[in-house]
Amino acid sequence: RDLAAFVAGLPKAELHLHLEGTLEPELKFALAARNGIQLAEKSVDEVKATYNFTDLTSFLAVYYPAMQVLQTAEDFFDLAWAYLLRAKQNGVVHAEMFFDPQAHTSRGVSFADVITGYRRAVVRAQSELGISAELILCFLRDFTAEHAMSTLMEALPYRHWIIGVGLDSDERGNPPAKFAEVFARAKREGFLTTMHCDIDQTGSIDHIRQVIEDIGADRIDHGTNIVEDPELVALAKGKGLGFTTCPLSNSFVTDQMKATEIVALLRAGVRVMVNSDDPAYFGGYVADNYVALAEQAGLDQTDLVRLAANSFDAAWLTPTRRAEYL
Ligand code: HPA
Ligand code: ZN
Repeated sequence: RDLAAFVAGLPKAELHLHLEGTLEPELKFALAARNGIQLAEKSVDEVKATYNFTDLTSFLAVYYPAMQVLQTAEDFFDLAWAYLLRAKQNGVVHAEMFFDPQAHTSRGVSFADVITGYRRAVVRAQSELGISAELILCFLRDFTAEHAMSTLMEALPYRHWIIGVGLDSDERGNPPAKFAEVFARAKREGFLTTMHCDIDQTGSIDHIRQVIEDIGADRIDHGTNIVEDPELVALAKGKGLGFTTCPLSNSFVTDQMKATEIVALLRAGVRVMVNSDDPAYFGGYVADNYVALAEQAGLDQTDLVRLAANSFDAAWLTPTRRAEYL
């Protein structure tokens, strides 16, 4: 298809991608075998049959248990490397990748094994694929603020390998304000900041407002509900805030892609772009997400080029590096 070829050939940055969400069933079986782990499912089809999510909670209930196969630094390397190979095929030239250390340290895997495995893939991506990759440490918002703070302290020896911090997992009852102190400390330590705001119910606009007005994060992950409040949209636009939207993910964990909201932000001149979130679970990598949105919303090539340009504008690149892509 013309559209798919155009999208794949369009250089782009991916800014909303959970490394643990790139665990394909085939790799899951391979790592289970290598680590002597018995899985409940017997085939790839059986694994995929469990991917019938209706909301974020039902997704997370599959996402976390799958991580048990990730045990050694080599496993984390293999996971990130497999994603980066796919990213290359998708036209990604820069990737800022989330990882969830608490999902591993809480089951006895060391922070050092997680980060050294991922870091090796980052270094290799630059030399062998020409992809600049960065790591963003995400705190699990359904854990305590104290646990997040101690994870931040654990990360400090590796700060030169981590560009920023984020906030993910179950948002209900876990507002941005819960982590105000952790994010203030992270900023003082020199990390850039982003937070997920993706609950699809009344009240999410309040989380977006907290991120913009109280936390002062550099980006918002998802955050498309901001369209409910035109004044907040104007504020976000004025600040040049990036919104890392994920159409296919939205159609899994809500009842739709949120194409209307994404396109409204695009037309309003907000720095919105397209990402894959958890591609192994949501049926497509980043190019598939551009195609799905374009088909749903009737976008033309100019719109797609704008989305890709926004991905570099919102990326945490130096001005010199950004200029290479724009
Ligand atoms: N939302 C919240 N937490 C997550 C997600 C997501 O899309 N993916 C992985 N952890
Ligand atoms: Zn996400």
